[in-house]
Amino acid sequence: MRIFVTGATGFIGSALVPELIDAGHTVLGLTRSDAGASSLAAAGAEVHRGSLEDLESLKSGAAKSEAVIHLAFIHDFSKFKENSETDRRAIEALGSALTGSDRLLIVTSGTLLVAPGRLATEEDEPFATSASIPRIATDEAAAAVAQRGVRVSLVRLPQIHDQNKQGLITFLIDLAREKGVSAFVGDGKNRWAAAHVSDTARLYRLALEKGLPARYHAVGEEGVPMRDIAEVIGRRLKLPVVAKSPAEAAEHFGWLGGFAALDGPASSALTRERLGWRPVGPGLIADLERAHNLEI
Ligand SMILES: NC(=O)c1ccc[n+]([C@@H]2O[C@H](COP(=O)([O-])OP(=O)(O)OC[C@H]3O[C@@H](n4cnc5c(N)ncnc54)[C@H](OP(=O)(O)O)[C@@H]3O)[C@@H](O)[C@H]2O)c1
Repeated sequence: MRIFVTGATGFIGSALVPELIDAGHTVLGLTRSDAGASSLAAAGAEVHRGSLEDLESLKSGAAKSEAVIHLAFIHDFSKFKENSETDRRAIEALGSALTGSDRLLIVTSGTLLVAPGRLATEEDEPFATSASIPRIATDEAAAAVAQRGVRVSLVRLPQIHDQNKQGLITFLIDLAREKGVSAFVGDGKNRWAAAHVSDTARLYRLALEKGLPARYHAVGEEGVPMRDIAEVIGRRLKLPVVAKSPAEAAEHFGWLGGFAALDGPASSALTRERLGWRPVGPGLIADLERAHNLEI
């Protein structure tokens, strides 16, 4: 199949492009830059120049393809609301190009905010709306496009890691360096789910090849306690590991304050059953133990 991949040059996209090409698919990768175009060409993908803000570029990429995998997102968390609304418009534009066909649109969102405080499953709708949690605009847009008859799958991601990047934990590492301590909130028993980037790329390929509209969780580990994450960061950076009270969290963690205390475990039992997907790791703590971004 010829697949239009937005975010093809990003962390997950860079693992997904070879996964698709090695399986015999053709990739049309979206990028804004010359550097992105060069890296896509070097990976054996075709290049589609455009951006999330240029909705015509999204529609024309989708129109040229037999399926779409949407990974692009503007990760400037100081404009989270605005960027989430850009994602909504992008998904609606991609969906409009697929209306009236049986071509699949695979959309990406997260597991962390699905059902805080309990194990989130693929069956769960988000517990809030985009009015209070901006990124839920992605889930809302996917549902709206599906309502219009487009075949839509939603892949929810936890913290995706390798030895170079580890989702939001990458920012926790930068913060620990800046503040001189590695912190967790309360007793640090709150959990974040995780998956290795290669397992994640394989899941997108399997979801694509399955071809059925569904919700998937790319979860390799259901919940890694934040205290364990803070401890490995502290050990690797030779920094003290400290507990912050919920009242201190906003001041210490800044924009990450809303996430640091969240208990967001997630299950992938249904995904494994539906796709025959078996994550093989390595696990989050194992990657952090030898992460290059924790070298001093
Ligand atoms: N990594 C994780 O742990 C994690 C966890 C949960 C959810 N997710 C979601 O998974 C998706 C992929 O994440 P990632 O970590 O691979 O992201 P990333 O490494 O930050 O890459 C972002 C990608 O988005 C593209 N992009 C950024 N702004 C754009 C714009 N204005 N127009 C068009 N493309 C734009 C970039 O392409 P160019 O610069 O080449 O244009 C790049 O390919 C995102 O939706 C992310 O929110 C990731």
